[in-house]
Amino acid sequence: MAGTFKTEKIGIVGSGLIGRSWAMLFASVGYQVTVFDIIPKQVTDALADIKVQLKTLEKDGLLRGTLDADHQFQCIKGSSDLAMTVKDAIFVQECVPENIDIKRKVFEDLDKVVDYNIILSSSTSCIQPSKISQGLKHKGQMIVSHPVNPPYYVPLVEIVPAPWTKPEIRSKTKEILLEIGQEPVLLMKEIDGFVLNRIQFAIIDEAWRLVSDGVMNVEDIDKVISEGLGMRYAFLGSLETAHLNAEGMENYVERYGETIFNVSRTFGEIPRLTQSGSSASICQQLNDIVPLERLQERRAWRDACLTRLSLLKKEMKQKYLTK
Ligand code: NAI
Repeated sequence: MAGTFKTEKIGIVGSGLIGRSWAMLFASVGYQVTVFDIIPKQVTDALADIKVQLKTLEKDGLLRGTLDADHQFQCIKGSSDLAMTVKDAIFVQECVPENIDIKRKVFEDLDKVVDYNIILSSSTSCIQPSKISQGLKHKGQMIVSHPVNPPYYVPLVEIVPAPWTKPEIRSKTKEILLEIGQEPVLLMKEIDGFVLNRIQFAIIDEAWRLVSDGVMNVEDIDKVISEGLGMRYAFLGSLETAHLNAEGMENYVERYGETIFNVSRTFGEIPRLTQSGSSASICQQLNDIVPLERLQERRAWRDACLTRLSLLKKEMKQKYLTK
């Protein structure tokens, strides 16, 4: 066994897709992880699934961290008792369904049993942390750590504090996320949808509008991202891309600023997907590209692509740094 176990404990609340990923990430550096779920069978299933996932990753040479798969698995245990799950833990990651009432209830239950040292972190994709933690005794310890699916392969985590989240909770959360190999970014204040989803929604809105307006079909509009913008965005953000596309950002603003403004003014109404007349056609086109019975196969392919890409990104980052 290379690597070492840690003595610090981590609690995971909710053992679905995201809870399992967090458990594996924390175990990859030797934290003692306890996974809790309101449905005990979910915990048993999660442990069995995690064991298979760790073994497969090891076999494929993709296991993260320095401990081997058996030792990482030894770091993870299940529990059907919330108080025991978080007892003496330094960090708890909530991963229950995206529903404000369920999340509020979990944090109210946690509020009764935790001490003043633990970080209370939520995986929520969209709910502002103040809405979850308002009125809690331990609200200063609550923060959002929003991962991106699948978190084992996509490292970004958005850290979103509520107005009352203590500064040391923000910095300690960032430190722990870096330690488990993720790439945290910090929002200075909470906002609906956080940042990743605001940008993602802007892209979905415009893609939807362009298909609805008959400018392009679904296959081609997705190609604009996967074969165009996405090629650059996998390595550089949109602002640095612009900086490089001219002689620096000042020059980019001079050259393209007015064009961007004039085109942006034509974007039009925000499409309401649930009531859109284009919905049937867009869904049909996507079902033709990836039939529903092949979604799982396509997801596995996506994960394989992301794994290769993350290896390439690591290699290219190193090349640039050692120049
Ligand atoms: P999921 O539905 O796969 O798992 C939720 C788990 O929570 C289930 O095992 C369920 O039994 C359990 N649960 C329900 N109520 C509970 C309670 N009161 N106490 C303890 N456990 C309870 O959900 P998933 O996809 O893992 O999402 C979890 C959170 O992560 C959500 O807030 C979601 O928005 C967020 N997230 C999800 C992403 C995704 O792509 N799936 C990406 C980023 C964040």
